[in-house]
Amino acid sequence: MNLSASAAESLRTALGDLLDGLPPKQASQAVDRLIASYRGATPTGAPILRDRADVAAYAAYRMPATFEAVRSALEAFADAAPGWTPDSHVDVGGGTGAATWAVSATWEGTRPVTVLDWAEPALALGREIAAAHPPLGDVRWQRARINASLALESADLVTVSYVLNELAAPDRAALVDAAASAAQAVVIVEPGTPDGYARVIEARDRLIAAGFRVAAPCPHSAACPIVPGSDWCHFSARVSRSSLHRQVKGGSLPYEDEKFSYVAAVRFPVSPAPSRVVRRPQIRKGQVLLDLCEAEERLSRTTVTKRHGELYKAARDADWGDAWPPLS
Ligand SMILES: C[S@@+](CC[C@H](N)C(=O)[O-])C[C@H]1O[C@@H](n2cnc3c(N)ncnc32)[C@H](O)[C@@H]1O
Repeated sequence: MNLSASAAESLRTALGDLLDGLPPKQASQAVDRLIASYRGATPTGAPILRDRADVAAYAAYRMPATFEAVRSALEAFADAAPGWTPDSHVDVGGGTGAATWAVSATWEGTRPVTVLDWAEPALALGREIAAAHPPLGDVRWQRARINASLALESADLVTVSYVLNELAAPDRAALVDAAASAAQAVVIVEPGTPDGYARVIEARDRLIAAGFRVAAPCPHSAACPIVPGSDWCHFSARVSRSSLHRQVKGGSLPYEDEKFSYVAAVRFPVSPAPSRVVRRPQIRKGQVLLDLCEAEERLSRTTVTKRHGELYKAARDADWGDAWPPLS
């Protein structure tokens, strides 16, 4: 089993064990409460994850999806930085540790990791499930509040996954600036909604102003070519559904697609994709239509037909979010 599949499998097992200890009704009630809190959207100044039931519900219901989204972003980042491996990692607003699992699914070896969060029950549960997966290595689960005076210890990699959404604008800016001062590489992931994309672009602009360049998803570090309000850049990661998902959401599909927006930015030389596929490819008879964001700082649609030979075969295999042409 490869690195990524083995981390995903261990996470599924650890979360399954967690649910075994929770009465189904209590778990689905906690999920309903969480969904309602997240819909509220405005930061409340207090943790949403208040106790073990909240956190177990978050972990079982959302962590597989945030893990897959971050893993997918890190994979695109790793493709742009072959040979680079983080020797230390800080995960801010790390909660139950999804990004920590995603890092261990992307790069071989272990590294010192610090997970920072203000919700003690999330850290406690993160620590508990991490114990089931030795490749996570040496993780410090530390209570910390993100605010205007946040300072981070230096680390090769800082991740911020599904957190900006929970912060007021001044705290979002303080967090991105603190990450830029501390890290060689910063990866930010948000829900794949117009608002999530807007927060990613705001963070991307701040990182570039601080001297970073974009490794992924963008093929360049110039302004995003999307006209504000007309569209939003986002991607999709496939997630196996747990029994809790089926219980809460109904339906029988064995998977769902998590939509996310992200930016991976670095202080060292990288080779971003020449272009990136920014929508699901449309496969027609004898041709594939690819919507691309290109190094020339523009969006385009390209049609690859049978006449293109090998490239046509590659286009039929191309997925939303892939580099184009495929990296050899
Ligand atoms: C949606 S969860 C994401 C958790 C994890 N990063 C993931 O991707 O699954 C948001 C996390 O941010 C934390 N958080 C929100 N506001 C915070 C703040 N002001 N200080 C510290 N942590 C905060 C929450 O406690 C929660 O664990």
